[in-house]
Amino acid sequence: MKPNLKSSKHQLHPHSIKYLNLGHPWIIKDTFTEKFNPEADFIISSEFVLLNDPEHNRIKARLWQKTNQSEQEVAKNFEAELVKRIVVALKKRQGLPFHNERENFFWIFSEADFLPGLQLLSLNKNLIISFYAYYWKKYEDIIVKVIQNELPNHTSLWIQYRSENQSKQTPPKFISGKQEPIFLIEEFGLKYNIEIGNAYDFGIYTDMASIRKQMGRELFAQKSVLNLFSYTGAFTLQAMKYGAKHVASVDSSSVILSVLEKNLATNFSDISTHQSVCKKAEAVLRDYAKNKTIFDTIICDPPSAFYDGKKRKSVKDFYQEKLMELFDITAKNGNLIVFCNTHTFSEDNFVQLIKKILGSKPFKIKTSYRLGEDCLPLKNFPEGNYLKGICIQKN
Ligand SMILES: C[S@@+](CC[C@H](N)C(=O)[O-])C[C@H]1O[C@@H](n2cnc3c(N)ncnc32)[C@H](O)[C@@H]1O
Repeated sequence: MKPNLKSSKHQLHPHSIKYLNLGHPWIIKDTFTEKFNPEADFIISSEFVLLNDPEHNRIKARLWQKTNQSEQEVAKNFEAELVKRIVVALKKRQGLPFHNERENFFWIFSEADFLPGLQLLSLNKNLIISFYAYYWKKYEDIIVKVIQNELPNHTSLWIQYRSENQSKQTPPKFISGKQEPIFLIEEFGLKYNIEIGNAYDFGIYTDMASIRKQMGRELFAQKSVLNLFSYTGAFTLQAMKYGAKHVASVDSSSVILSVLEKNLATNFSDISTHQSVCKKAEAVLRDYAKNKTIFDTIICDPPSAFYDGKKRKSVKDFYQEKLMELFDITAKNGNLIVFCNTHTFSEDNFVQLIKKILGSKPFKIKTSYRLGEDCLPLKNFPEGNYLKGICIQKN
């Protein structure tokens, strides 16, 4: 069904115009966006056509195109342009080398494919459409139809409305195909247990796949490894695969650790070198400091915001309080790998924060990890580069 599209002309903040011209596609809430007509599908400002998102808390509109077309032409061509961009994104990833190495990858990755706030994830041919912008709800039928036509070999199709607001976060809903939500996928020779539809996430973070690929044997072989905020154990499985001497996986959720243990049992016959620790990271760090427990490799990947047992804190607060403790339990010549997974804190700011906290401690920044392969961010759009990891070597 073709939606009846409306547009509305508005002024933008001069900074928004400057950044749009540089390729930054978001309009963040300000006094100008307060005047946006909530009924409009498009916000038009000189040659910029933006998709209006009144429901979103922060990102009030996203760039659709820069054009001299009339409002009527933009509306008339919208559906064809949407279909074209989806097809281009799918074609771009066909036959790329990562298909031989993993069964999880993104066919569509939002702004990088000029489909702002829209993602399409493939998990062993099960497809999940994710809407990070609320306006896509109106075009759900069109998007579903084109994906069903273009990827006819998929097993099932699901849709998820992703939200920054935790109370609005719901699992994907089933759309079509065979409803078999529990299955295995393979990535770099390791198997992962996946379940769609039961929780907000499914058991693996695919945007980290290209980073996992870079984190090889030298970080894990014969090393003692701490995987802090382990989730279902993607880094744990890797450490075990490369022959770590000992691996501790820490997560505050027992449900999540039970999936991690299932993943271990699926991949390894001997898991005696592994220990699951179901505790808050902060408490575990206190225990390790008290017992003088040291690790050769530490991977720390906290959520962007979380509850530490007393209050809600940001990833930045966490590192401000705990980075030094993490450094202290890293062995000399060991690696401390810290991740920051939020578009609200840039890679530069993250590096500056690390340098400030560690001050004159003996360390060097060895490697930076960023999104890659199927998830390439846009130039001049630092928020698209939301996932960053820094490998700190202790000297
Ligand atoms: C971003 S995920 C980690 C992803 C994981 N590193 C991976 O690569 O698959 C964050 C995890 O932190 C856990 N978590 C949240 N707050 C925690 C806390 N205070 N202490 C320990 N784990 C916590 C959550 O249960 C979740 O599994």
